Amino acid sequence: MATLELDGIGRRFGDTTAVDNISLSTARNEFLVLLGPSGCGKTTLLRMIAGLLPPSEGRILVDGRDVTVLPPRERDLAMVFQNYALYPHLTVERNLGFGLSVRKIGKEEIRRRVDEVSEFLDLDGLLKRRPKELSGGQRQRVALGRAMVREPMAFLMDEPLSNLDAQLRSSTRTRLTALHRRLDTTFVYVTHDQVDAMTMATKVAVLNKGRVEQFGTPVEIYDKPASAFVAGFMGAPPMNLLPAELGTGVDDSLVLRAPGLEVPLPDQAGTGPGVRDVLLGVRPEHLLLVTADHVGPTLRGRVEVVENLGNEEIAAVEIGDQRVSVRGARPIHLIPGDIASLSVRPEHIHLFARSSGRRLVWDPELVPALAS
Ligand SMILES: Nc1ncnc2c1ncn2[C@@H]1O[C@H](COP(=O)(O)OP(=O)(O)OP(=O)(O)O)[C@@H](O)[C@H]1O
Ligand SMILES: [Mg+2]
Repeated sequence: MATLELDGIGRRFGDTTAVDNISLSTARNEFLVLLGPSGCGKTTLLRMIAGLLPPSEGRILVDGRDVTVLPPRERDLAMVFQNYALYPHLTVERNLGFGLSVRKIGKEEIRRRVDEVSEFLDLDGLLKRRPKELSGGQRQRVALGRAMVREPMAFLMDEPLSNLDAQLRSSTRTRLTALHRRLDTTFVYVTHDQVDAMTMATKVAVLNKGRVEQFGTPVEIYDKPASAFVAGFMGAPPMNLLPAELGTGVDDSLVLRAPGLEVPLPDQAGTGPGVRDVLLGVRPEHLLLVTADHVGPTLRGRVEVVENLGNEEIAAVEIGDQRVSVRGARPIHLIPGDIASLSVRPEHIHLFARSSGRRLVWDPELVPALAS
């Protein structure tokens, strides 16, 4: 599949709207990740792309051709499910080749493709085993291999790594990225794990309640989240979001106020008229420790917990009735009970309207005051 276009796709189940009017289009051979929390409609959307579920409305176009009503077998897509769905009574080798023999592909050709795929996925030594004699990670590779031998136009994957431990997840991510590069074909990959999205995707669609919150590259989504929802979903720990207010200062200038903080904003901040209640967003790695006598706007709070992650530490700091995460190289020089003074550079401040959650566009270069 070179390109995929969703045009106003929706799906209802009785009163439930699982997918709500989604439109997006991909460039050639993307690694598209559908990312979102449980129940946001990821699997429903993937099943519609696969042809396993008819949409309630909208169209699906592959390479510009409308495939909305085509049955799955005419779409030339390979699906990898979370539960692998291997044939328990067949060896790994037969599991890999089964779909091809059903398609009446010659023995020689099947052998060639199975050999090639098992070498790529490190399955050579396991070909004579049955699924119950494999670890979860090995089964997962067989499921992937079974999709690969078909040499499909696109791969559709629904949380294929969810049963793997952290190390295997990480090595399989690397493998999938390599696979995508090598095959030069479209991947559509469903996950609730933002690390999957950050590491493998060329494009991410962040879904919330059946709708697309943001569609962009991993970098765009991390650096410029379009909403507080996206900001709070990406990153571990995610972006800190503090209630703040836009108000007027002494000389009618615009100010941003949060607990213990007052930042003058220029009128040109471009936050749009009438927005008063905002969320101030700062990533944990962008909160900078400063000394207690730091001049300029500073957030102050009590250190509650410090977590050691080996290479870095994450501190939880109570500011008023809010809690923020601060990330830094180890040692972070914070001790529970300490009062921490935190500053942030203006270019690292994000503002969201509190009512809608939408990002407010503003120009950090016009706001020098929070700089450390
Ligand atoms: N066959 C069905 N009948 C009724 N409701 C359904 C059906 N399939 C899904 N839903 C509902 O549609 C919504 C989206 O479900 P979906 O399985 O697409 O979510 P998901 O994003 O894949 O979640 P998860 O991460 O938990 O797998 C949910 O509210 C779910 O209960
Ligand atoms: Mg699902």
